[in-house]
Amino acid sequence: MHRIMIVDDDGFVTLQLNKLLTSIGYDVVGVADSGKEAVELARDVRPDLILMDIVLQGEPDGIGAAKEIMTELDIPVIFITGYTETEFFDRAKQAKPFGYLLKPFRIIQLKASIDIALEKRDLETRLRMSEQKYRRISEELQKEITERNSVYGALRESEKTLRQMSTHLIRAQEKERKRVALELHDELGQALSLLKLKIGSVIKALPQDQTELKNECKGMSSYIVQMVENVRRLSRDLSPRIIEDLGLSSALRWLAESSARHMDIEPLFEMDDIDSLLSPEAQITLYRIFQEAITNMVKYAKATRIWISARKGEIKNILTFIVKDNGVGFDLEHFVGHISTEKGLGLATMNERANMLGGSFEISSQKGIGTTITISVPIEGSSNS
Ligand SMILES: Nc1ncnc2c1ncn2[C@@H]1O[C@H](COP(=O)(O)OP(=O)(O)O)[C@@H](O)[C@H]1O
Ligand SMILES: [Mg+2]
Repeated sequence: MHRIMIVDDDGFVTLQLNKLLTSIGYDVVGVADSGKEAVELARDVRPDLILMDIVLQGEPDGIGAAKEIMTELDIPVIFITGYTETEFFDRAKQAKPFGYLLKPFRIIQLKASIDIALEKRDLETRLRMSEQKYRRISEELQKEITERNSVYGALRESEKTLRQMSTHLIRAQEKERKRVALELHDELGQALSLLKLKIGSVIKALPQDQTELKNECKGMSSYIVQMVENVRRLSRDLSPRIIEDLGLSSALRWLAESSARHMDIEPLFEMDDIDSLLSPEAQITLYRIFQEAITNMVKYAKATRIWISARKGEIKNILTFIVKDNGVGFDLEHFVGHISTEKGLGLATMNERANMLGGSFEISSQKGIGTTITISVPIEGSSNS
């Protein structure tokens, strides 16, 4: 049963209303005859609805009391007015009452006004609740988005760290290779050459009839020549001085030709004049990529043709390198996502090296058709990174 409070300074009106309300099933839980008393009573009994006379003596009047009650206690108020009190209407409207009840009262109008007010209140409450619910949901979403962003941020950070580490590793490896190559060439190479000279003088010093010993020494000498050649090759593989001496284009030619010889094929070249566009470090990095790509061809491709190209691209300031074979190809799917762990590190390191140059690495392969590797790098000095 809904609990209703009545505020009116006319005892006859309150009595009449009280009767009417009770007769149509409402519970009258309080009656006040001034604005002040109305506010206090409403605080005490917390009715579901208040019927409030607009015109009341004292402060606050009906309108003031209604405003106070609706904002402080959130209880809906219906104003009671007579036709004569039109001058109050403007102020009354501002108080945003839940309805108006005209004197003299008619039972139908009374019930309708009250039901509408209560319904409106109910709707408002439900609206407020769903608003709160959606606000909460949107706050949670917002929170989730923020969290997710920070996770992505952390991921990006660690990806960056990893990339820096791998760049660092690749550089350190390059430095170490260079050191070992020099050591091999200078120390071991020299020592072997010296040894060969010494054996030469032993041969000379040996008496004519010591043919067996002489032949033994000659055998040793040519073995040393072979060793020197091996040491040179090792040293060259480790640190391709040819790049420093002749530049990347020639180094690539030499690399492809000497490797293709193992496969008994002639590589096809398309080379622009690119050496001056790349720093020595970039040239070494590119050389390493080619070295890996060509080694893979020799190891796996069973190709009858290979193409090597280095072009100043159509797109300005980009160099494009392509290594292509018509060999057996392989299933790239197999490598997506787990490049670097499943099989060798070759593909992953090529990718990493291209990244070091601010460039991109692409590989496409089709079984029975062949494999193509494309590396694009920005020309130094024009780089927009
Ligand atoms: N040119 C190619 N032709 C055919 N298969 C290739 C070629 N290049 C790479 N592959 C395949 O991709 C695999 C991964 O290569 P890579 O990452 O260099 O590792 P690894 O050479 O140590 O096996 C190779 O094992 C081979 O199966
Ligand atoms: Mg490999």
